[in-house]
Amino acid sequence: MQQSSPLTSGFGSRADGEIVIGEIGPVAESSSLVIFGITGDLARKKLVPAIYDLAHRGQLPAGFDLVGFARDAANSEPVLRESVITHARRPFDPEVWHTLTQRIHLIEGSFDESPAFTRLASLLTTLDHRRGKPGNYVFYLSVPPSAFSTVCGQLAVVGLNRPAQGWRRVVVEKPFGHDLPSSRALEGVLAQAFPPSSVYRIDHYLGKETVQNILALRFANGMFEPLWNNRHIDHVQITMAENVGVTGRAGYYDGVGAARDVIQNHLLQLLALIAMEEPVGFDADSIATEKVKILSATELLGPLEHTSARGQYGPGVDSGLPVPGLTDEIGFPPDSTTETFAALTIGITTRRWAGVPFYIRTGKRLARRTTEIAVTFTPPAHGSPAARAAAVSNVLVFRVQPDDGIELHIGAKRPGGGMQIQPVSLGMDFRSVFDPAPEAYERLIGDVLRGDSTLFPRRAEVEHSWRIIDPLLQHWATAGRPDTYPAGTSGPVSADRILSRSGREWRAL
Ligand code: BG6
Repeated sequence: MQQSSPLTSGFGSRADGEIVIGEIGPVAESSSLVIFGITGDLARKKLVPAIYDLAHRGQLPAGFDLVGFARDAANSEPVLRESVITHARRPFDPEVWHTLTQRIHLIEGSFDESPAFTRLASLLTTLDHRRGKPGNYVFYLSVPPSAFSTVCGQLAVVGLNRPAQGWRRVVVEKPFGHDLPSSRALEGVLAQAFPPSSVYRIDHYLGKETVQNILALRFANGMFEPLWNNRHIDHVQITMAENVGVTGRAGYYDGVGAARDVIQNHLLQLLALIAMEEPVGFDADSIATEKVKILSATELLGPLEHTSARGQYGPGVDSGLPVPGLTDEIGFPPDSTTETFAALTIGITTRRWAGVPFYIRTGKRLARRTTEIAVTFTPPAHGSPAARAAAVSNVLVFRVQPDDGIELHIGAKRPGGGMQIQPVSLGMDFRSVFDPAPEAYERLIGDVLRGDSTLFPRRAEVEHSWRIIDPLLQHWATAGRPDTYPAGTSGPVSADRILSRSGREWRAL
């Protein structure tokens, strides 16, 4: 899309026939991005490669500087270079990297070391003078939530949180707390230093192009919305399956588990996009308003012993090779009760959705990697006994990854005599139609630099998500050990029972 094309807010069409929804957004202003924890896992695997990809596409604003802050930041250039070579989407181009390194500045220091923050303040001022920038700073907290308070406090001491001129934005990563009270406490910490409008909460699923396409499919087409309710939809399944385990992630994952790691954030965001009402516009406020409304009407369905399941992977196989169980992974205690699989049932108490179960499941070390949302329509109720026997449930599937696309399952007559119905599918692969989309972090970092908060969950969304899953976490806290499932399978049998009670089945992995 060309930035110069005339755009409308709401639906509209451009001269070249492409349909646009909403504004593309503001242009990024000259700014400095400070990453706290530049040598950490996330920064190396996602953030620095995404910044390199933005540089490669010429999408960084003029006058951009990247300041990396970490205890071991000095001399980390070779590490960052390596991370770009390994993880960036675009091929490594020494010239692009060389140009970018002219804009990378590293500050060595720990978060409780005041002189390091004084050095940071003076570096930012120097960069502003050198490039004639007004003092626009993004602070990316790529650090554990336990460090938020120290970093925000130090920024406040040196006056970096309040702009004399320019703007301040602060970016925080999940996990945003471990339950509702702790999430509120973290918000309190941020609110002391930064106004609410400058806080960007990252949920990288919202940066995925297929996830944004949920709204386009629902609201840019006329044929789905009339059916999008409990008269025509039987149930919805949201699946995020991964074949990887949590090797090397014990420090983060043990005690966190699957529900906090991805259901509280990524999967409830997918649910909100599938279930929300049409926003009055496609701007950040209108979309957030609808997401908050639907999440506030969302709750766990019980009794939890029947409507939820929890599992932990045991030894098994991945791609034909033996892999250890969770408690044999380095860093996990033998008696760890951390769940690597979680499944639950959600209900939405609106007129549109009353009575439609939303089943959510996620797991590590499952049979394959797939994230999808499957909307199953109610089979036709009328017709002759023969027609009823032949009826199929239509399923609309949003394939988020790895083969992003959309498919619709319908029944068709098999050639030959009689009326033999066979399920067939109509499909669309995004990759065969569109150019490859930016990686999620590339998109989201670009949005922060442009000040577009559309793809960032608001505080109320995060808090509703905790409210929704907290009762399940409390239930599990006293429910003993999770069930075990062999690595490389589709999870514990207890998950199948959630659906079989109502005569339904999970989609095959
Ligand atoms: C992260 C979780 O948020 O998402 C990880 O912490 C998970 O446990 C990852 O593996 C999955 O992201 P993606 O984009 O590969 O689906």
